[in-house]
Amino acid sequence: MWIKRKRGWELPERAATPEHVFRDRRRFMAGAAAGSLLAVSGAGALWPHRSRAQMGPPEGDPTTGLYPVPRNDAYALSRPITEEKLAVTYNNYYEFGSSKTIWRDAQRLPIRPWTVTLDGLVADEREVDIDQLIKAMPLEERLYRHRCVEAWSMAVPWSGFPLKALVDYAKPLSDAKYVRFETFEMPDVARGQRGSWYPWPYVEGLTMAEATNELAFMVTGMYGKPVPKQNGSPLRLAVPWKYGFKSVKGITRISFVKEMPKTFWWDVAADEYGFWANVNPEVDHPRWSQASERVIGEDRRIHTQPFNGYGEQVAHLYGEKLKREYGDRLYR
Ligand code: MTE
Repeated sequence: MWIKRKRGWELPERAATPEHVFRDRRRFMAGAAAGSLLAVSGAGALWPHRSRAQMGPPEGDPTTGLYPVPRNDAYALSRPITEEKLAVTYNNYYEFGSSKTIWRDAQRLPIRPWTVTLDGLVADEREVDIDQLIKAMPLEERLYRHRCVEAWSMAVPWSGFPLKALVDYAKPLSDAKYVRFETFEMPDVARGQRGSWYPWPYVEGLTMAEATNELAFMVTGMYGKPVPKQNGSPLRLAVPWKYGFKSVKGITRISFVKEMPKTFWWDVAADEYGFWANVNPEVDHPRWSQASERVIGEDRRIHTQPFNGYGEQVAHLYGEKLKREYGDRLYR
């Protein structure tokens, strides 16, 4: 028997249905399926103190005074920036559920104190306080395209620092081949983590060459402010030449390892999502086309570009040897 597990971000109707119709229908279905009002993402009435203002940066975030940071004009865009309100209310964050409207639930995540463990093949394993880490890093703003494997996209002004700066700070040993990222595990606040269906915690990974490429960026802010909880506060990754699921949020551990890490979605559905996930309009997802993308906030689709338009910076990372070894798996 062939059973296809469907997750929220895979529904093919998304490509064909206007945004507001789709969202309202999802909201209704989520409530009906759970049989509980609490599952309805538009349940603001139950938490009147959660105002719409809270969809922005966390109140009292100790890094608020650091932003805005200088923009690095080397990372500009030839398309409009997505409206902030949309980028902070249309999210994928399975720890808080599979709907796009988890931003209210994500406010429960305690983001201080927060430490990041640097371990594995490093000279000295250590646990760093997030605020000390942010202060030690060279903050800048970059405008990046953001392309989800579900075939929608945004354009976002991220603030943060190059992952390479963090790699240098961690001092990996020469036999480290991959960087493995792991997120928090807090089923008490993250209801998506209560089920045993998914292999929590969320894990992602990059090769050392990818991690030290100039484009790999650690995000601490967004739209000139600290990054909101639903977008990955206090620390997430942005690797814009890869499908969005590689850009892991809520990072608590960064390990330098010898073996390719088994990543979250690869573990869930190996035939559909792998380690590499480089954007390629010519390699379709097994169940939908990747040739074009729906632009969030605009009533149009655009052609998807190889490496999401960043081929100049990253195409050289995937030479003949990797192509022979992985073929189309480099693009899933
Ligand atoms: N990180 C964690 N920890 N959990 C997730 O479910 N979803 C990924 C990625 N990072 C995810 C995650 C996916 S599928 C996408 S498209 C992006 O986050 C969405 O980022 P955004 O909500 O800031 O647009």
